[in-house]
Amino acid sequence: MSQTLQIKTAALADVTADLTIIYAAEGNTPEGAGAAHWSATGLDWAAASGAGAFKGKQGQMLDVLPQGGGRLLVLGSGKAASETPLNAWTDRGGSLMAKIAATKAASVAVVIDEPGANPAAVGELAAGLRLRHYKFDKYKSAKDSDAPAELTITLHVSDPEAAQSAIADRGATVDGTLLARDLVNEPANVLGPVEFAERAAELARGGVEVEILEPEQLEALGMGSLLCVAKGSDRPARLAIMQWRGGKANAAPLAFVGKGVVFDTGGISIKPAASMEDMKGDMGGAAAVTGLMLALATRKAKVNAVGVIGLVENMPSGRAVRPGDVVKAMSGTTIEVINTDAEGRLVLSDALWYTQDRFKPRFMINLATLTGAIIVALGHEHAGLFSNDDDLASQLLAAGIAANEKVWRMPLAPAYDKLLESKFADIKNSTGRGAGSITAAHFLQRFVNGVPWAHLDIAGTAFGGSSTEVNTSWGVGFGVALLDRLVRDHYEG
Ligand code: BES
Ligand code: MN
Ligand code: ZN
Repeated sequence: MSQTLQIKTAALADVTADLTIIYAAEGNTPEGAGAAHWSATGLDWAAASGAGAFKGKQGQMLDVLPQGGGRLLVLGSGKAASETPLNAWTDRGGSLMAKIAATKAASVAVVIDEPGANPAAVGELAAGLRLRHYKFDKYKSAKDSDAPAELTITLHVSDPEAAQSAIADRGATVDGTLLARDLVNEPANVLGPVEFAERAAELARGGVEVEILEPEQLEALGMGSLLCVAKGSDRPARLAIMQWRGGKANAAPLAFVGKGVVFDTGGISIKPAASMEDMKGDMGGAAAVTGLMLALATRKAKVNAVGVIGLVENMPSGRAVRPGDVVKAMSGTTIEVINTDAEGRLVLSDALWYTQDRFKPRFMINLATLTGAIIVALGHEHAGLFSNDDDLASQLLAAGIAANEKVWRMPLAPAYDKLLESKFADIKNSTGRGAGSITAAHFLQRFVNGVPWAHLDIAGTAFGGSSTEVNTSWGVGFGVALLDRLVRDHYEG
């Protein structure tokens, strides 16, 4: 078992723990404004060696051995709270967690002495602590034996109740991000389409209505595009539909649609071996949608939302779809399959059409690890954003900055759409070498039926990349915080 983490809040008094951390901003040493708050720790600042040199710079640390045992650290948090945007507190929480973990302490008191550290900032700091604490080590036999089984962190603040409720509210979103990471990190032998659908069905406990459609039902709906991807696999496809009704009874829902390819070998157009193991993460879009639905339900968001995820495995076999095959999507559009490795768009075409047809949503946002080309364009720093709606696009750009999950807008234009024309069918699933992410987006746009829509190509941001202050695991959970922020800022109440 991984170490469990508990985060509590308490007043700025009676500070007792194995380890006490005074979390101090620049200029907030006892000579400055912090003095009154620090007294609760019993620190004799004048007698502490190195105190004079402590300026509170981000990461600066002073290790003090106070009389009476215990360990006391004075840790610089950087710029004063009044000069710190809310989204910087998540990273602060992450780097604080790294410091705490290195000490191997079981109980830690963090004294947050800044007047400007309002409850929302403390909520964000706690989110950073949890995000950094996350480990996916369930398949490791040897565990870190020095680390205690349980870690309790108490945040000492001026208003503990307000901080606690901010931590819980922001914590719902963290729950969603961590669920998405778990799903992305899980290997495909454990998490097939059926198992993923079962994980989605577990959201029912939190009040989400979940339906799982099986191949017979998908066939009856005419989803020849989604189903053709699953044909080569021994494991059957699933479509999971998750509804959260926290808004007004008749309000049109927001719709989130995810690509859930539990493993992408490329199919008959098989991928090279190098890094193919990464393709267990090709369900990162579906993971984000599932995590988002959990977040919305956990914090009882005042909104109607629906999540639809297409779950398939893309394998080569004697039953697999071939290059040149023509399939028919639920919309009636015929598709020539040029490349069986361009399977994500086949899955999403039916999932998008079904979603707009059944739910008449206010908008649809789909997430997909759709193209390697978006990694060429944007690396691991931004997800690609494509949209037919300028307002939705700017809301997503802003939400991305606020949530530290950035997106960058890419173009759509008729000249690209024309590249989808096929010799034998209405459209083809793969075009020439250029503009691969854009033509993929145009393919999806053919199935949104004019509904306000945005497509997030998260191939570069869902997994891999380098460790950050808030994530050291492979799976990122990208998209949950971003979309939760979008909902909070524009679509609730
Ligand atoms: N799942 C891949 C895209 C991908 C690549 C995601 C690397 C994450 C990391 C997708 O299904 C795919 O294979 N796309 C092809 C499309 C091409 C065949 C038109 C690609 O990007 O090469
Ligand atoms: Mn593929
Ligand atoms: Zn794929």
